Amino acid sequence: MPQNARLTTNLAGVTLSTPVVLAAGTAGMLDEMSDVTNLAGIGAIVAKSITKEPRAGNAYPRITFTRAGMLNAIGLANPGLEAFKRDIAPKVASVPTTVIGSIAGDTIEDYVAIAQAMDAIEGINLVELNVSCPNVHSGLEFGADPAALAELVGAVSESLNSTKLFVKLSPITVGTPNTIVDLAMVAIDAGGDGITLTNTVPAMGIDVHTRKPILSNTTGGLSGPAIHPIVVRLVHLVYSQFAHEPTYAGIPIMAAGGVTRWQDAAEFILAGASAVQIGAGNFADPRMSLKVTKGLDKWVAKMGCANISELVGTVIV
Ligand SMILES: Cc1cc2nc3c(=O)[nH]c(=O)nc-3n(C[C@H](O)[C@H](O)[C@H](O)COP(=O)(O)O)c2cc1C
Repeated sequence: MPQNARLTTNLAGVTLSTPVVLAAGTAGMLDEMSDVTNLAGIGAIVAKSITKEPRAGNAYPRITFTRAGMLNAIGLANPGLEAFKRDIAPKVASVPTTVIGSIAGDTIEDYVAIAQAMDAIEGINLVELNVSCPNVHSGLEFGADPAALAELVGAVSESLNSTKLFVKLSPITVGTPNTIVDLAMVAIDAGGDGITLTNTVPAMGIDVHTRKPILSNTTGGLSGPAIHPIVVRLVHLVYSQFAHEPTYAGIPIMAAGGVTRWQDAAEFILAGASAVQIGAGNFADPRMSLKVTKGLDKWVAKMGCANISELVGTVIV
């Protein structure tokens, strides 16, 4: 793996060769992007979210493109934990970059079972908890209910040995009395090692000729450039009001939302992110992550820094 001292970044003790990461669900199950890009030049891949049982996902159409990104209602299609252990886990150690596992579920027991399985996989030292899933008991998303979030993160973190735990939050806290800062704090207090901001924004598109929703699921999640400034603000809030505070100093943030140019990634770094994920951008250009990495490298040098971490959270407000 090429090492460039300027771009190495540290996520709760896990070192990435660059801060540019392929976001969950947008880069195949594991290493399928190796056909079209050089994975060794990418900081990490977040594998597709895994649930305990296989899921076919929602009916088609489940992806549509918008003027500034894409709407998806994939519905967490994945082969389930047993197939992951059998077919995917044995390949993890040979992927030429860091692999981050992604866990989804609708009960705490399911999340814990997957976390324990991932903890045992050679080559997975970091997992991301997708908490934008409804809790089967309450119907509320885990990430929107502080008590459920604390219970979930606590149970998963206890089940992990050395594997680090990032909690991936939804950008929308409307309808709950909590802010994104409250939820991030709950996740860290319960045992999380870092925060990923964010998942997609709930959204909808309508075909004006048929008058039907474009997605079979009626609604889906918006991602891509349209959401980038929204997520910049959330990263800034979580960094400046929480992750930067002395008690929590050093809690890393991974930003995900609309990165399609190096400048978008640089904005996230300045807002407080230690790493930046690319999701929808991979569909537009599978080599986008390499281009963003190159641009970031030049930017860090131009800013006179020896390492990109010197720029984390340094927006002047
Ligand atoms: C087609 C598609 C599938 C996704 N699947 C997952 C998933 O399985 N798990 C997850 O945590 N996020 C998933 N996401 C969300 C992305 O990982 C990312 O958080 C979001 O798209 C914002 O980043 P972007 O604007 O760069 O796409 C998916 C996004 C897209 C577009």
